[in-house]
Amino acid sequence: MKDDLLLLALNWFYLLELTQVDFYLTQAKYSEDKYNTLVLLEMADNETVHANKIKGYIEHMGGFPTKIGKYLSHASKYIAKLTNYTTTANFFYVNYIIESIAFSDYKKIIKAIEPENTFKKEMLNGLIKNLIDEDEHRNWFLGTRRSLQKKGN
Ligand SMILES: [Fe+2]
Ligand SMILES: [Fe+2]
Repeated sequence: MKDDLLLLALNWFYLLELTQVDFYLTQAKYSEDKYNTLVLLEMADNETVHANKIKGYIEHMGGFPTKIGKYLSHASKYIAKLTNYTTTANFFYVNYIIESIAFSDYKKIIKAIEPENTFKKEMLNGLIKNLIDEDEHRNWFLGTRRSLQKKGN
């Protein structure tokens, strides 16, 4: 993968990670379930680490991380106040979809990067760690959504 394409791809991941941070912080703020709040806050921390890692890679390559996705979730703040089981289950479904997109896109980029130097090798290791986290996150959202749906019925 050429460096200009890699930079574009890294910017995409940067936006995706920032969107996740924003989503989870917003949902944690309005969640009435204490355990779910803790998990969402923990995930927001985790996504912040991911975002900063990606930002570091972009800057190391001489690029500029873009933040246009930062306001994507602002509309969700109004809806997030309606925290019944069904609404939370719907949010968790959206989270699951975003995590799944992150998971499959990380898989693709990891396959496309050649470990041709120390920096690229380190980046590959970092991206693999993100991939593993996203896989855990999406499974948590999927499982928790199922149990919320049972309660909502
Ligand atoms: Fe992430
Ligand atoms: Fe995630």
